[in-house]
Amino acid sequence: MKSKLIVIACFAAVSIQAFAAKPTSKSISPDLFGIFFEDINYAADGGLYAEMVQNRSFEYSPSDKGGWNSFTSWEYVAWGFGYGTVSVESSSPVHPNNPHYAVLNIEDAGKEGIGLKNSGFDGMVVKAGEKYNFSVFIRQLSEQAVPFGVKMYNKKGKLLGETTIATDSKDWKKYSASLNITQSSDTAELVLLATGKGKVAVDMISLFPEKTFKNRPNGMRADLAQTVADLQPKFIRFPGGCLVHGDGLGNMYRWKNTIGPNEQRIAQKNIWGYHQTAGLGYFEYFQYCEDIGAKPLPVVPAGVSCQNSGGTWRIGGTGQKGIQLSEMDEYIQEILDLIEWANGPETSVWGAKRAEAGHPKPFHLKYIGIGNEDKITPVFEERFRQIYAVVKAKHPEITIIGTVGPFHSGEDFMQGWKLARELEIPMVDEHYYESPEWFIANQKRYDTYKRSESKVYLGEYASRGNSLFNALAEAAFMTSLERNGDVVLLSSYAPLLAKTGHTQWNPDLIYFDNYKIAPTVNYYVQQLFSINSGDTYFDQVINLPKDSTVAASCVRNSKNGKVFLKLVNVGKTAQKVNIDLTGISGFKSKAIKTLLTGAGDAKNTFENPQNVVPVKSEIKMKRKSEYEIPAMSLTVIEM
Ligand code: AHR
Repeated sequence: MKSKLIVIACFAAVSIQAFAAKPTSKSISPDLFGIFFEDINYAADGGLYAEMVQNRSFEYSPSDKGGWNSFTSWEYVAWGFGYGTVSVESSSPVHPNNPHYAVLNIEDAGKEGIGLKNSGFDGMVVKAGEKYNFSVFIRQLSEQAVPFGVKMYNKKGKLLGETTIATDSKDWKKYSASLNITQSSDTAELVLLATGKGKVAVDMISLFPEKTFKNRPNGMRADLAQTVADLQPKFIRFPGGCLVHGDGLGNMYRWKNTIGPNEQRIAQKNIWGYHQTAGLGYFEYFQYCEDIGAKPLPVVPAGVSCQNSGGTWRIGGTGQKGIQLSEMDEYIQEILDLIEWANGPETSVWGAKRAEAGHPKPFHLKYIGIGNEDKITPVFEERFRQIYAVVKAKHPEITIIGTVGPFHSGEDFMQGWKLARELEIPMVDEHYYESPEWFIANQKRYDTYKRSESKVYLGEYASRGNSLFNALAEAAFMTSLERNGDVVLLSSYAPLLAKTGHTQWNPDLIYFDNYKIAPTVNYYVQQLFSINSGDTYFDQVINLPKDSTVAASCVRNSKNGKVFLKLVNVGKTAQKVNIDLTGISGFKSKAIKTLLTGAGDAKNTFENPQNVVPVKSEIKMKRKSEYEIPAMSLTVIEM
């Protein structure tokens, strides 16, 4: 957490008022604050997934994005008077799931060789003194073996590192080599150069930094994965969003396509207008959850495609389509297999595949989402009912999360809730993107939800902006989530990541490019709630003036015994509140205050990423005190 620690001892202002009521407490969800990950805005390929080669398997196509093809992001190079040809073929691929590959026919390698150059996702970032792991699949098509040079250059043509490999197989074979980089660059390029006469097929040309997050192979970009981990999310929902139910039935996210060796995974069009390699697949998601202590929350399609399929976002298109009813048993089995893959013993069919991938122990899957903000039509309902009945019967230990449409109200919301009540679905996923004013005005939303009905996962929400005011409106709303943490069990801001120049959706929580990361003010709000969360909520501790601009909550975390007060002021003037801690056992005066404040329109940017960040200081609390909440601020007091 990027925060400044100012160690000053001060007293909270004291103008004591007597409180009539004793605090009442209730248990709330310990998993309330998590994250939502979707491969939108280049969040996975070109983002969190550390693969540096773009279009590594020559699978890009115009259906991913107009103008793209198998050779997108590649350049044929013939240096030093060499000559030959390059073509893209598909007759004998490395695996049927990965049909395209390049064929190099080297007539004369010249002085330096001929081959292929890749400039990555807007250039590759390499650091002097660090190692990069190169790999490629090659099939020798000519009698003679073909030697290769693997080189990295900066834009000015300076060599940054090099290694060599030599082919020795007429079958597809994986070759690996390590590149030592001698000079840093933000815009490096990778070149694979055949330096002898012959003919070869090449595929899966890949380059990863050795230092991925936790040094995982096929891993994640370390700095970005750490920034996400610093949110200390209690759960991670993946792989989306609209990406889950996909752009038509053939584009739904099918988890089995995303596990196993990379060359056997099935890449496909990304609904957000680019390409998903599936290199960041279910194994990597579950592994990351475990690495950062978050519960996995996979969402699977409810047997229907996205209602916005085939058209511009929310407009036109072919609409929602359902899997043939005759194929539903097979589809439901796919979901049961996922649960076995995650939780089954290594002796089970799917547990064995998890073990084969390097994780013999179960992943302890507890939650599963079925559907993503689907239109609640008869086509949806019929399939959802079937999936729900089987998963519930076979896995009572798993909490199933249903869906109630894309908005906080309206037809789908009502129909979704009607179905949830009828089927007694344990939890439903609500989504809303609204103005900050809406969030401020709707803080009582969950106060009246029936505790006996389905619980709520607020799976996607954001207040349409990244200013401090937006973030504070979300903070005010989040105090109401804590107050209602007995009915809202999970929540996640959306979307999480956005790469500059490749952003389809704004606002997002974390902006990044290839080498910089700018967490938004909203990020710090999410972080402050997550790292200071509790499992017991206390009422009556903070006495708020009526009709004011403030919101507050008080929780205790039984794991560390700490009590957290959160005080939010979305107004332009400071506001006084009375705090009465007399009913809270184990009171100690020493406390840490974290303050997030600034101008209402202040934002964090790449140029000024630390414009609004939390500032810590030591304070002494009294059992009864008056506290002045600064204008436009969130204060967290940790006792
Ligand atoms: O978070 C961005 C998109 O918003 C999600 O993919 C979708 O579920 C929602 O409409």
